[in-house]
Amino acid sequence: MFRFLRDHGIIERNVLLMGVLTLITISIGGLVQIIPLFAMETTIERVGGIRPYTPLELMGREIYVREGCYLCHSQMIRPFRDELERYGHYSLAAESLYDHPFQWGSKRTGPDLARVGGRYSDDWHAAHLRSPRALVPESVMPPYSFLDRPLDAHDIAQRLVAQRRVGVPYTDEMVGNAVADLATQAGPDADAVAFQQRYARARQGVFDGNPRVVTEMDALVAYLQMLGTLVDFRDVTPEQLRQQ
Ligand code: HEC
Repeated sequence: MFRFLRDHGIIERNVLLMGVLTLITISIGGLVQIIPLFAMETTIERVGGIRPYTPLELMGREIYVREGCYLCHSQMIRPFRDELERYGHYSLAAESLYDHPFQWGSKRTGPDLARVGGRYSDDWHAAHLRSPRALVPESVMPPYSFLDRPLDAHDIAQRLVAQRRVGVPYTDEMVGNAVADLATQAGPDADAVAFQQRYARARQGVFDGNPRVVTEMDALVAYLQMLGTLVDFRDVTPEQLRQQ
């Protein structure tokens, strides 16, 4: 039995042999990590409804990241009974397809937000963000009333292009109309036929209750109201979810 330990001495006394064997051991570990990535495509469900974020939603998402909302909120519903009953259908890989970087988060000081879209009114969100404790007295969420300032989106077209570079399928038409589309979504009276064709089921609204200026609050609420609503689960078959 101890023969093995004695033979191991040969390796320990030979730097070259030790180096080669170390390399082989490490490559096995590396391959185990890397090979599954080649099959990643097959783990993304082919469900309908997933589209790139509208310019306004994209700006809202940037504010979400800037303010560090992900430090207290996850966006990933796990397939456990308690989570399904509280939040709804578990998150699909496809739903994070156009998230760069993804917002799964790792801590829930507040609830998961993956399906918060449509759960509350726009007014509720704006009031809650301005002063969480006004609506939920025991809340430890900080107030974000400063988001009522005008949204600086002069570089929105470049932001779309940047997203496109990492794989989000924004078309030239989407990039060319980015500024107009942002205004259209925040102004419910604007003609939205072309906008709706570009971004299916995008919701227009005066998200912060003030129709005169497009604010950071507008963008953030538009983003929150879209979360988890893109896939219509009535159309999803169990086969689509199982297809890997
Ligand atoms: C310090 C941790 C913390 C941070 C940072 C934080 N939140 Fe919260 N959030 C909470 C807690 C706790 C609750 C539950 C109590 C409440 O509703 O206020 C909550 C609730 C919410 C809800 C209601 C969710 C539901 O299903 O009822 C939304 C929406 C929300 N937060 C959005 C945000 C956004 C957007 C940001 C960033 C601008 C943010 N939060 C930052 C802790 C936080």
